[in-house]
Amino acid sequence: MERPRFNRRNLIRRGLLGATVLSLPACRYYPAESGEAFAPWDLDEGGPPELIAVRAAVLAASPHNTQPWRFQVTAERIDLFADLDRALGALDPLTRELHIGLGCALENLVLTLNHHRRRTTVVLSPDADPAHVATVAITPDDAVRSDPLVHVIPDRHTNRGPYLDGPAPEGLAAALADQLQSPVVALTLLTAPEDRAAFKADTVAATEAIVADAEMSEASHAWYRHTHADIEQHRDGITLDSTGNGSTLRFFGKLSGRPSAASAGEYWLKATRSFQTTGAAYAILSTRADADATAALEVGRAFQRIHLFAAQEGLALQPLNQQAERQDRELQLGLPTDFGARLARWVGALRRAQMLFRVGYAWDEAKRSPRRPAEWVLS
Ligand SMILES: Cc1cc2nc3c(=O)[nH]c(=O)nc-3n(C[C@H](O)[C@H](O)[C@H](O)COP(=O)(O)O)c2cc1C
Repeated sequence: MERPRFNRRNLIRRGLLGATVLSLPACRYYPAESGEAFAPWDLDEGGPPELIAVRAAVLAASPHNTQPWRFQVTAERIDLFADLDRALGALDPLTRELHIGLGCALENLVLTLNHHRRRTTVVLSPDADPAHVATVAITPDDAVRSDPLVHVIPDRHTNRGPYLDGPAPEGLAAALADQLQSPVVALTLLTAPEDRAAFKADTVAATEAIVADAEMSEASHAWYRHTHADIEQHRDGITLDSTGNGSTLRFFGKLSGRPSAASAGEYWLKATRSFQTTGAAYAILSTRADADATAALEVGRAFQRIHLFAAQEGLALQPLNQQAERQDRELQLGLPTDFGARLARWVGALRRAQMLFRVGYAWDEAKRSPRRPAEWVLS
């Protein structure tokens, strides 16, 4: 794969700087939040490998940064549990996203154990307890190979800022598909301008539907952390810094009080119509339509690897799951299928779209999101 790394001079030379991007204030001139809530990103590599692996696992992506995980750790095995109190409710009524997030954490866990020469045997959904999502048996073995992706775990961040609307790098589909490592999960990459335009229009329509659905809108807003004190207390959720907005909006946003769900929804919709749908390609990870929570865990593992690969290659990435969230809401409420049908156009009627994202070259680096430290999530 050709790897045109992000480099502003390069981009200017390529004439790819669009008017949209130029008109946006650069984010970097207003400093991002800092403090204990961000300390886990300075990954502490001291102590036993099992503990280091949990410290890496908590840096994984999760829906709305809910971090819906708990870990039971011994030297021989780590058990991963869903923290169902951290489910997104109406925004994720089938807990598809919750399980994808757990799969993301599992992938970081395994990558880190392997890096420390621990052979891992993973069993997904090992017993009848629905909260017990995985068991990882650990055996020391010097022959275990370390995957280079392990080195970018602390550098992977969701980038919600503007990307260049340029072409996708050659070989992108194959390079991303290489990361799947599971026959259960398939990747569909949309790069043609007409496909991207259709996907964007559907994403905007799904965002409008979520904003108009008071229960979904409130469920989303419950995880928004506005003040520094909020962030330090909870160490989870979405912050103003992570929204991809420029310095001016972040500065005035922090000065004003916590917005209502309705006004946060309007900002989100505006961002989705403009810079949050820029990029080189949209992608969909899908499974069979009858897939269960175990398949969603596999999707999470695949997605985490793809996001780490993107970070390694200097590509920015943002999940855009509005259509899948509406697809689940239609199923939950028995509504006529609208977004389910729109997504089936890309993945086929026998498959279910599970994880949607955009990828491209970003104008600016993403900000870190808060994290609960490993000690908070050990059982
Ligand atoms: C299953 C899943 C669904 C997500 N859906 C969205 C989404 O629709 N829009 C978005 O901006 N971010 C989405 N994200 C990204 C999370 O919000 C993000 O991982 C979290 O806030 C932590 O930030 P980080 O990825 O920078 O560590 C999703 C992540 C996961 C794992």
